[in-house]
Order: sequence, then C-alpha cells, then structure tokens
Amino acid sequence: MVTGGAGFIGAALIRQLIAETDAPVVNVDKLTYAANLDALAEVAQDPRYELEQIDIADEPALRDVFRRHRPSGVVHLAAESHVDRSIDGPAPFIRTNIHGTYTLLETALAYWRELDDAAQSAFRFHHISTDEVYGSAEDGRLFDEHSAHHPNSPYAASKASADHLVRAWSATYGLPVVVTNCSNNYGPFQFPEKLIPLMIVKGCLGEPMPIYGDGGNVRDWLHVDDHAAALRLVYRQGRIGETYVIGGRSELSNLQVVDRICQVLDELAPDGPGAPHGRLKSFVPDRPGHDRRYAIDCSKIEAELGWRPGHSFDSGLRATVAWYLAHRDWWQPILDRRYAGERLGLDRAATPGAE
Ligand code: NAD
Ligand code: DAU
Repeated sequence: MVTGGAGFIGAALIRQLIAETDAPVVNVDKLTYAANLDALAEVAQDPRYELEQIDIADEPALRDVFRRHRPSGVVHLAAESHVDRSIDGPAPFIRTNIHGTYTLLETALAYWRELDDAAQSAFRFHHISTDEVYGSAEDGRLFDEHSAHHPNSPYAASKASADHLVRAWSATYGLPVVVTNCSNNYGPFQFPEKLIPLMIVKGCLGEPMPIYGDGGNVRDWLHVDDHAAALRLVYRQGRIGETYVIGGRSELSNLQVVDRICQVLDELAPDGPGAPHGRLKSFVPDRPGHDRRYAIDCSKIEAELGWRPGHSFDSGLRATVAWYLAHRDWWQPILDRRYAGERLGLDRAATPGAE
C-alpha cells in the first residue's frame, strides 16, 4: 500500500514499483489539488495497480481497504506538502499530516496484529518525512539521524508530530516501522507551486521569477527518481525502528538554482518570451519563518544500504527543464484551473522583514 501515490514523489515510486518489481500496488489517495493522475498514466492499466480514492483520516474507509487488499506493508507519503500553504491555512496540515497519520497507524496496527507470524515479521510501516523537521542548519553543520526536531513552519511541525507518532507506535505497540527524512526533491510532474517547477514555468511564460528575501536560503536538492530508489531500499532492507536521512549532497542557494534554470532555459528556449531569462529574476518579501539552510549527511543510508543518487544536480535539472518545456500540455491546465502561480504564504502572517 502506497498512500499519497498520486502525488509527485508517490507517483514516481509507483512507476518504479510497477516497472521494476513484481509487486501489486494499491494507491490510497484522496486526490487533493496536488494529486496528478497523469503521472500514473503509464501504470493505470496495469493489472498490478489499483487506486482507492479515500482520505487517510477516514478510519472506516481505510479499514475496508486493508481488509480487501491485505497489504504486505505500507509506504506512507500522503500529506499536505507545501510550506506556503501551511502558512496561509494550517488546518488541512493538522488534519492530514497528524490526524491522518494517527488514523493510518491505528488501522495498520489493528490489521498487523491479526496477521500470522510470518506476515507480521515481513510487514513494514514506512513513514516518509522531511528534513524540515530539524529546522535551520547552522553553517558548517549537517542534519543526520541524531539531529533534534526543531520545526519552524506549520507544515514542518505537522510532519514532526507525525514522526513522533510513528516512533511511539513502534516503541509502545511494536509496529515494525522505518522512517526516512529527505531533502528537497525536483523532477518531472512536480506541482508548479514549488520553487523549481514554478521558476521554469514563469520562465517559459516570460513572467517575473519571485525569489524570496535575498535568495541566499540554501536547500539540498535530490532528483525524485533517486528518492524513490532510496525509499525502495529502506523499505526492503532498512532496520526496524531506524531512521534514515536522505539527501543529494547538492547544497545550493535559491539564487544559484534560479540562475541555473535561467541558463538552461536560455540554451533550450532561446526564442521564448522570457529570453534572456536572467532579466525575469525578481526579489520579493521573504517567507515568514523561512529556514535559512537545510543540509543532510546521508552517510548512514550510503554505508548501510549502499544507496547513491544516480543524477547530478546539473544533469537532473537540465532534464527537468527539458521535460517542462516539452509538457506545457500538462502544466498549462494546472495554471488555468488549479493554481495560477500567485504568491502564497503571506496572507495571515506578520512578515518579519517584509517591505
Ligand atoms: P504532493 O503534495 O505532491 O502529494 C501529496 C499527495 O497526498 C497527493 O496526491 C494528495 O492527493 C495526497 N493526499 C493529501 N492529503 C491526503 C489525505 N488526507 N488522504 C489521502 N491522500 C492525501 O507531495 P510530495 O511532494 O509528493 O510529498 C510526498 C511526501 O514526501 C510527503 O509526506 C512530504 O511531506 C514528503 N517529502 C516531500 C519532499 C519534497 O521535496 N516534495 C521532500 C521530503 C519529504
Ligand atoms: O526540504 C524538504 C521540503 O522541501 C519538503 O518537505 C516540502 O514538502 C517541499 O515543499 C520542500 O519545502 P521548501 O519550502 O524547501 O520548498 P519550496 O519549493 O516551497 O521552496 C524552496 C526554496 O525556495 C525555499 O527557500 C523558498 C524559496 N522560494 C520558493 C518559492 C515557491 C522562492 O524563493 N520563491 C518561490 O516562489
């Protein structure tokens, strides 16, 4: 069972699972604004794939899905995932990320307790989390599995809460869990509210590219297919009760990322309405509570499980820009109907440093 499998990362994981394994996959997804069934088009007709459109906070519906599908494990990605939206309206984040995770844990635990010994010991509840739970990393420091939780946004706090619930259900009830905390993902089919797809789309349209604050905030970027490969490895081989942090060893400031996007757009779309794209860079008021830096030491997953990312940031970004240029038919309807690219994350906040 994959929850949130119609999202950006969940869909990448399901595409890999269907293409590279024999596993049947049930995708439990509410299909919120962020869901994207086009990303699953290549597996939709596969007899090993099935979609159950339910809310993970709906306990009777969830119990029914466990009863009918009898999963051998759960990979839990369903979440509200966008920091700016959590600033404007935290309620769905609390409901899905905390209450939904609690409901899923309770339902999985009741199901797991009824399994025979072999199925019980093979079962895994894999919780997918984020490096944002650790807060902002000081210069020269890297987050690892021992870093303390210090969440700063409503999104991060909701994910940190979920991490704690998962840990408690393992320690108290013996549910066999593994947890991963990953850095920023990018790649095809990412909803154009996140930095990289938003900047590419703005660049294609010749619209200003909004850079928060001074553009000096640093993120560690990982291609979504490398994250999906890491998740499969941890699910199969990770030690029960353990956390694994995952990152791309690819720390860049937002300004560096936007500059690279502009360079690739200049190369691949020299006659586009935005060219030369560097002129579209626009500094806008900062995100409230904006973490300055995320940085990951992923030695544990490398040493224990032999994981290595396959994409460099340069090759992955180039392929991603090319993908968005070739798939306007995917993102233009999203801009027309679901999210037009307007600024999010300032509405309710008293914005420190806002101009
Ligand atoms: P996304 O927003 O693209 O997709 C989330 C999916 O969850 C959507 O398909 C949505 O319909 C589904 N969903 C939301 N609420 C639901 C509910 N109540 N019940 C059932 N389904 C629901 O998110 P993503 O970027 O693919 O992230 C997936 C997971 O990975 C999240 O848990 C996120 O916190 C975590 N994560 C994301 C990143 C990143 O860079 N995107 C990095 C680290 C960790
Ligand atoms: O670190 C992992 C996290 O990465 C995940 O847990 C989240 O689900 C995911 O959304 C992402 O969070 P960020 O807040 O880092 O991602 P976002 O794409 O929103 O922003 C990346 C950086 O770019 C951040 O410093 C804010 C900045 N930014 C973002 C947007 C949307 C801008 O400067 N301009 C923008 O328009």
